[in-house]
Amino acid sequence: MAATGDAQPAKHQEVGHKSLLQSDALYQYILETSVYPREPESMKELREVTAKHPWNLMTTSADEGQFLNLLLKLINAKNTMEIGVYTGYSLLSTALALPEDGKILALDINRENYEIGLPIIEKAGVAHKIDFREGPALPLLDQMVDDVTFHGSFDFIFVDADKDNYLNYHKRLIDLVKIAGVAHKIDFREGPALPLLDQMVDDVTFHGSFDFIFVDADKDNYLNYHKRLIDLVKIGGVIGYDNTLWNGSLVAPPDAPLRKYVRYYRDFVLELNKALAADSRVEICQLPVGDGITLCRRIS
Ligand SMILES: C[S@@+](CC[C@H](N)C(=O)[O-])C[C@H]1O[C@@H](n2cnc3c(N)ncnc32)[C@H](O)[C@@H]1O
Repeated sequence: MAATGDAQPAKHQEVGHKSLLQSDALYQYILETSVYPREPESMKELREVTAKHPWNLMTTSADEGQFLNLLLKLINAKNTMEIGVYTGYSLLSTALALPEDGKILALDINRENYEIGLPIIEKAGVAHKIDFREGPALPLLDQMVDDVTFHGSFDFIFVDADKDNYLNYHKRLIDLVKIAGVAHKIDFREGPALPLLDQMVDDVTFHGSFDFIFVDADKDNYLNYHKRLIDLVKIGGVIGYDNTLWNGSLVAPPDAPLRKYVRYYRDFVLELNKALAADSRVEICQLPVGDGITLCRRIS
């Protein structure tokens, strides 16, 4: 419904764009302020050509194209898939976002519509990134799911095709898209930390090699850790010590009823805080977040 209340379709509706925003005027504002002025020339040309096509309602809108383009750059996508191409607006926005050696596997049952946009995609110099396959997507996805070399191989998959198959697509795509997991970044070592730190301190290749070290272990050893970590953290790097406000017990009166473990570690935390405040090798900041965290930036 137009914000002005007149019965004429708003401009964006005429060219087949759609928005869930309540006010057409607001959507038009977004397009005219943030989207069209930054739209690459090739995407503008493809949008205008598509607007003349009888099925223009199917096209991806310019704001969504802008969003896809930014998202793909932010996640450094390289290998992508698109199901549902039509004349190629989202495909072009993807192709423009990918690096020179990026790849898009583009699937659609209709090549004729893709060929409307193809000359513009070629002129934009990004056609070499696209591997267009004509035909229904499901059988091809099934082939790929059967071939484990495709598992986890796609950084990004955009689905904009037959909605009645979305769940069928999802069942297959979940195997083909990369796992975002972080486990491969972790080198877990079981055992007390001090002996391992001592080995590292003895090996100069570890000196100044860590950007960030977080300590949240046995509080009675924090000062022992600090003596070693100061060599291992980079100059400019940060060590974070957790629990440096120790349940608020640091300022509790001597006869306060403290739990046994709180009382035991209290003096170690008091000693650490004093030592860090006096350590000229680090700049410090004690944050009253959680149970207190002290950040130490190594400066020498
Ligand atoms: C909404 S349009 C895609 C719009 C496109 N993303 C764009 O930027 O303009 C949907 C497309 O899905 C395609 N399609 C429909 N069923 C399909 C299927 N089973 N497999 C592959 N493509 C299909 C249609 O041919 C049509 O081009």
